[in-house]
Amino acid sequence: MNTKYIDLINQSFYFPQEEFKLENNHLQFHDIDLKQLIETYGAPLKFTYLPQISNNINRAKTWFDNAIKKHNYPATYNYCYCTKSSHFKHVLNEALKNDIHIETSSAFDIDIVESLKKAGKITDKTYVISNGFKRSQYVTNIARLINDGHKNCIPIIDNYEELDLLSEEIKGKFKVGIRIASEEEPKFEFYTSRLGIGYKNIVPFYKSQIQDNKKVELKMLHFFINTGIRDNAYYWNELLKCLKVYISLKKICPTLDSLNIGGGFPIKNSLAFEFDYEYMVDEIINQIKIACDEADVEVPHIFTEFGSFTVGESGGAIYEVLYQKQQNDREKWNMINSSFITTLPDTWAINKRFIMLPVNRWNDSYERVLLGGLTCDSDDYYNSEQHMNAIYLPKYNKEKPLYIGFFNTGAYQETIGGFGGLQHCLIPSPKHILIDKDNDGNITTELFSEQQKSEDLLKILGYHEQ
Ligand SMILES: Cc1ncc(COP(=O)(O)O)c(C=O)c1O
Repeated sequence: MNTKYIDLINQSFYFPQEEFKLENNHLQFHDIDLKQLIETYGAPLKFTYLPQISNNINRAKTWFDNAIKKHNYPATYNYCYCTKSSHFKHVLNEALKNDIHIETSSAFDIDIVESLKKAGKITDKTYVISNGFKRSQYVTNIARLINDGHKNCIPIIDNYEELDLLSEEIKGKFKVGIRIASEEEPKFEFYTSRLGIGYKNIVPFYKSQIQDNKKVELKMLHFFINTGIRDNAYYWNELLKCLKVYISLKKICPTLDSLNIGGGFPIKNSLAFEFDYEYMVDEIINQIKIACDEADVEVPHIFTEFGSFTVGESGGAIYEVLYQKQQNDREKWNMINSSFITTLPDTWAINKRFIMLPVNRWNDSYERVLLGGLTCDSDDYYNSEQHMNAIYLPKYNKEKPLYIGFFNTGAYQETIGGFGGLQHCLIPSPKHILIDKDNDGNITTELFSEQQKSEDLLKILGYHEQ
């Protein structure tokens, strides 16, 4: 009978795969000896395999270049990295080796851009696409960047007030984009995304605020589908709706020449993962070309802002199974020596699944288990894989330590998990006030901590050394 863990994997998937193989009964990821890593550093640990960032950027660039050639598409493709998926200096340094551009989401992102410019990693030619709802600090930082000569910074207008706020602080003429608020998938809790301006309001907004405005030049239409780029009716329908808006605008706005289709490329979240990236890119370019040719307008330059796809597949986490608790006949809890809530928060918050594999003991027999984290929170667990409604691992044995790896975890988990004090999108944590009552019953207040500053966050991200 085939009862070893390796038999289970061989029966369920094609294995080995490009990035996963076994060497002396131990798992290797991109030829990294994970056993050695554990022996050197101990578990739990997280790692970032930097070359995978460049690999994925170049894969995407090749798909777009091929599609552009195939369809005789007379415009360019521009790869932007969505920094919010991982702002670390080591990630940006690697990504920027590949002649790419940057997408920002909040005020402190601009400080990162300036730090990278100082270090010579970004030049005035690099597009800085500034998305997000712009509060005063973000507006001020964008204005500073543009006033200092970065004419390729393109703020994407997310709400009706931003244009005035930016115009007050930016000297001279500047380029902008407009974000279309997409309609959410029918099963979602609300109809229209809160991000951007509704489809029907884009042309009226352009006519009333931009068309006769000497300071502003509309260059880009931005479109991002929350559920990502998928081969389903919803995605294609939204793309076509967006193209209709692009065409209507282009007919009255000659400076408009770029379409930003956002992020949302999926990444490998299971050994059974299949996604035909090449076909999707080809069909996106094809659809844009057909729509523009039919309407007799020039095709736009294409921008993307892949976050997960750029950095997700570079990351991993390794834990040791500390102990097994059998709570009833069927439920065995393998307790890991860390927490899912804090180190892989998306597993808890949005039920996200990553590739999970044991690092060692592939020749041992296996069992069905649940994985528990060390916090006292009953939600700190992981109980199924993307491709099957369960988790199987080599049988727990007190005498034989078991290490498990979670792979392709490189996007969003550090900021959402609060690594060193980081916050999602680098939105600083607010000041904290202690409130008490004195003996006379009067309320007293005291500042416990200030709001986080840009320097605090940039230091955690590694920029202090630059
Ligand atoms: C405007 C915008 N661009 C790009 C991204 C990156 O998406 P992903 O990480 O799925 O590529 C996001 C993610 O929320 C986004 O809101």
